[in-house]
Amino acid sequence: MKYGVISDIHGNLVALEAVLEELKSFEVDRFICPGDVVGYGPNPAECITRVRNLDAVVVLGNHDAAVCAEMDIGWFNPFAREAIIWTRDQLSENDIKWLKMLPLTYDFDQYIVVHSSLAEPQAFHYIQSTSDAKICFEHMDSLRACIIGHSHVAEVYVREEGKSAIQRIAMQDGGELRLECDYRYILNCGSVGQPRDGNPYAACALFDTDTMVFQIRRVPYDIREVQLRMRKVGLPDILIERLEYGV
Ligand SMILES: [Fe+2]
Repeated sequence: MKYGVISDIHGNLVALEAVLEELKSFEVDRFICPGDVVGYGPNPAECITRVRNLDAVVVLGNHDAAVCAEMDIGWFNPFAREAIIWTRDQLSENDIKWLKMLPLTYDFDQYIVVHSSLAEPQAFHYIQSTSDAKICFEHMDSLRACIIGHSHVAEVYVREEGKSAIQRIAMQDGGELRLECDYRYILNCGSVGQPRDGNPYAACALFDTDTMVFQIRRVPYDIREVQLRMRKVGLPDILIERLEYGV
């Protein structure tokens, strides 16, 4: 099976459309979204509709949880909070109902999808270091790979079975990794709608469970158009500006 992995879309429909266009040529069998369909961006309802129409595997992100009142918004910085409150007003009852029904994890074959760490998925702990990854690996049991988002940075953590050393691999555009037997992996596909690794291009991944290759793709999109839309609806300047720097 060939999976297209699209995480942290964050209401950025222009970036989502660009990514889906890019992935078209790879004949994806199914899409996986490790959470945060909404929050930050100007088109949350449209992004929900687009993802629902893909019949994607979707798990709950912290922004999704906050928007549908399943999480305390006091956890967020003031700009994210403002965007969450604005986002709530843009969604229909049906959209909110759909967000509320999203599971925290989804496992299939030897894989599991979660927004952040498998350690207390409902707490949305970040995985940004090998020590964060270690805790997640401890919850993987016999699963081969954990597919995540949340940090908005495309990267992979690898641990050989029975060993304690963990390697972190930064994933650039086109970077690919073949998963090997006897190793466990945490695969982060980066963010479609708000990348934070200094590269403003939308990030997504291809994961082929036949060849066992995980590949990162970076896709240019019309950032100015998204910024215009955000300005028009009064979203915070800092959220608008960061898109062009990818931070
Ligand atoms: Fe996110």
